Amino acid sequence: MKYFFLSLLALALLVVGVFGFRGDKFSQAPIEVFPDMDHQDKVLAQSASGFFEDGMGSRRPVLGTVPKSADSGVMPLEFGAGRSGYYFDGKFEGTFGNGMPTELKLEKNADAVGLLARGKDMFGVHCAICHGKAGDGKGVVGHHLGKVGVAVSNIHSFPQETHPDGYIYQVISDGKGLMGGYKHNLPVRDRWAIVAYVRALQASAK
Ligand code: HEC
Repeated sequence: MKYFFLSLLALALLVVGVFGFRGDKFSQAPIEVFPDMDHQDKVLAQSASGFFEDGMGSRRPVLGTVPKSADSGVMPLEFGAGRSGYYFDGKFEGTFGNGMPTELKLEKNADAVGLLARGKDMFGVHCAICHGKAGDGKGVVGHHLGKVGVAVSNIHSFPQETHPDGYIYQVISDGKGLMGGYKHNLPVRDRWAIVAYVRALQASAK
């Protein structure tokens, strides 16, 4: 029995001698039985990296990066969830209004041209498939929906006088009938750009 306790003590000393106490500081890397994901091929913030020519691990954001915070001076992507006011819901005190919101900052001619170009792009991506590139309701999907008795609206029949800009904006945001809403896919600014382009299409058809 004496030898058992002696050898247990010797074993304990041996284990502590080799592995040390928990929480001790060592100059050498610890023995890793399960390395898990301790070592990864990644760049740590503020550290050097041989991967890049200038040897710096921290990189500048790529050109055109949109910051999430509003105080950066660059307008962040805004989807307008739960916000009210003409820019966000197309309404002035509960009534659909006309005109482009001041938030779009259309001061110079070039700003308006840029917005229309964006509207044209976005209309081509999101709307033309059903409404057609000209907005006449004869897009590819519109054509096939027609065969099963679903009419895709000809957007030329929604003029400003009877269907204000704010209303078109709301249809784009929330959808109507079989048309789905785009408020989760298109930022507020892009939806207004499409409204502007819809007006341009209507004007060009006159
Ligand atoms: C999946 C096909 C589809 C897509 C994509 C689509 N629409 Fe529609 N849209 C429809 C259908 C169908 C209607 C008719 C809805 C109804 O009256 O029930 C409609 C109706 C409309 C109307 C008329 C609303 C009214 O008061 O009757 C407007 C304006 C309109 N869409 C604009 C757009 C714009 C702008 C886009 C792109 C952001 C778009 N639509 C994308 C199918 C689509």
